[in-house]
Amino acid sequence: MNLDPSEVVWNEVVFSLAKDVEKIVMSLFGKPEAGKTVGTNVSGDVTKYVDKISEDLVLERLKVLGINIVSEEVGLIDAGSDYTALVDPIDGSYNFVAGIPIFAFSFALFRREKPVYAALYEFVTENYYEAIPGHGAFLNGTPIKVSPAPPERAAVSFYTRGKGIGLIQRVKRIRVLGAIAVEMAYLAKGTLQGVVDIRNYVRPTDVAAGTVIVREAGGIVVDETRRDVKLTLSAEDKMNLIAASDWELLKIILEEVNSDGG
Ligand code: IPD
Ligand code: CA
Repeated sequence: MNLDPSEVVWNEVVFSLAKDVEKIVMSLFGKPEAGKTVGTNVSGDVTKYVDKISEDLVLERLKVLGINIVSEEVGLIDAGSDYTALVDPIDGSYNFVAGIPIFAFSFALFRREKPVYAALYEFVTENYYEAIPGHGAFLNGTPIKVSPAPPERAAVSFYTRGKGIGLIQRVKRIRVLGAIAVEMAYLAKGTLQGVVDIRNYVRPTDVAAGTVIVREAGGIVVDETRRDVKLTLSAEDKMNLIAASDWELLKIILEEVNSDGG
């Protein structure tokens, strides 16, 4: 089928895809069978049963659109298109299997290297986050913005394997929720002020939608050297990421993660 991706109504297509993923996965929430290992993904992690069935549905539905797809388990499916969708059908699959209700469907669409649409659907709250580059970020259709707070009142999610541990004493709250895409959406809507993952472990498929949504909500997304995070169209590249609602908090995070104190 030769659909022109610029004519596709992406918000409708992606929302209905997220709802269809929800229909096939939610009966497995918190069940051990959801976590059965069914293979290994392109970046070497195990593929769980729930990852596989959700990705199969996503691939079936996106392939007919003729775009390239980069998805967490299979990696790149190159259709020779200018458009590429970076998808993680379930971000937070450990939480899903364990019955912790923090996980989401994550989708970001690029035209060549430029983001053109991003969305994240949190199955349990039924919250749908979107970003339209140049037009802002939205939660269920209502514009959202980051909500800066002085460090002593800030809440930060923090994955560092022990590095930069001094940050714990410089902010009010630390949260580690186990689904980085969701944590970035919370930053975008103003309920977290920072998200730090400096394990050189997350991949663009985990954070593409979150990055676009945070930036459109007025937040900053850089690496540990303060350079803007560049999203590659890959399910394998490992990266570091520091997202913050404002420069004051970012400065403190960078001081701590780059301090000799570890
Ligand atoms: C994981 C989650 C988790 C992060 C891991 C990711 P997955 O994604 O986002 O928060 O710490 O690095 O791999 O595997 O559940 O899609
Ligand atoms: Ca996943």
